[in-house]
Amino acid sequence: MIDSNVPLVDLHRHLDGNILPPTILKLAHKNNLPLAKHTLHEIEKLSQIQDKTSDLLKFLEKLDVGVSVLATEQDCFEVAYENIRDAKESGLDYVELRFSPYYMALAHQLDLGAVVEAIAAGVESGSQAFGVKANLIGILSRTFGQKTCMQELDALLLSKDKIQALDLAGDELGYPAPQFKEHFIKARDAGWQITVHAGEADGPKSIWNAIELLGATRIGHGVAAAQDDKLMDYMAKHAIAIESCPTSNYQTGTVADLSSHPMKTFFERNLLVTLNTDDPAVSNIKLSDEYDVAYHQLGFTREQLSIIQSNGVLAAFLTKQEKDDLWAKYTQDT
Ligand code: ADE
Ligand code: ZN
Repeated sequence: MIDSNVPLVDLHRHLDGNILPPTILKLAHKNNLPLAKHTLHEIEKLSQIQDKTSDLLKFLEKLDVGVSVLATEQDCFEVAYENIRDAKESGLDYVELRFSPYYMALAHQLDLGAVVEAIAAGVESGSQAFGVKANLIGILSRTFGQKTCMQELDALLLSKDKIQALDLAGDELGYPAPQFKEHFIKARDAGWQITVHAGEADGPKSIWNAIELLGATRIGHGVAAAQDDKLMDYMAKHAIAIESCPTSNYQTGTVADLSSHPMKTFFERNLLVTLNTDDPAVSNIKLSDEYDVAYHQLGFTREQLSIIQSNGVLAAFLTKQEKDDLWAKYTQDT
């Protein structure tokens, strides 16, 4: 269902949720870790969702397997590099990769600043090797609390110019947005753009807070916006994009089934809806699967999906010139 006349982008993709099972096994062997005793099939079962989980926190436990094998900064570099290879294989023209340095450093107590540098270097090197344009979004893992998030932010700011935006991810219900106001003031002062996971595990108030308190111009998931007409009107009026990830929303139990996903409602109410993967390796999906899901299960037409695909370019954290450059390849060919 992907329109071959429109640039393909993924704006919501966790680099640390996209560590492929063969890479997990390879790094487990290299680093002499207990996971190395497992077969590839067992690693797949451990690190990927089987149908669905009970809630977001159970879903996030699956990501723990991938980051547990990151024992050196070079491992982080490799995972970043492989993410660009994966983007190329998925046909992406542009990808925004997000990552939490604290989360990636945790299992083997790596230096936070060094992790950020390794990720930026891996993405840069991969972009050159595979010819896929990429930008980085730093994540504050709210699950670890305000203080740790400030350390995480400071580590990201050391590589300020290699990062485009800041996100807040993890336990939305337990660690609401008001706790992170100061962090996001600092991020905006640094010139970064803001996207926030909101309305995934909590209600519409969480989305209002992401916009009004943290300055989000894009919302990750935003499923709960469907419960609040005023919020949907506000988001449409101010072009606050929604980064939809339907399979992830099913797997986390955010929506009971795909046919009740509100993405179509958002589209019909003129919200700037985009379609993305979230954690492709953990969910065991490709971006093309999400376009298929949107066509077969969410009820979009091909024409509507083409608009959604181009919304990705519109909502990207890119300059007007960079967006024109993405389109150039397609307009020349036609
Ligand atoms: N980290 C990785 N995937 C996430 C999600 N869907 N929600 C919150 N934090 C995440
Ligand atoms: Zn996410």
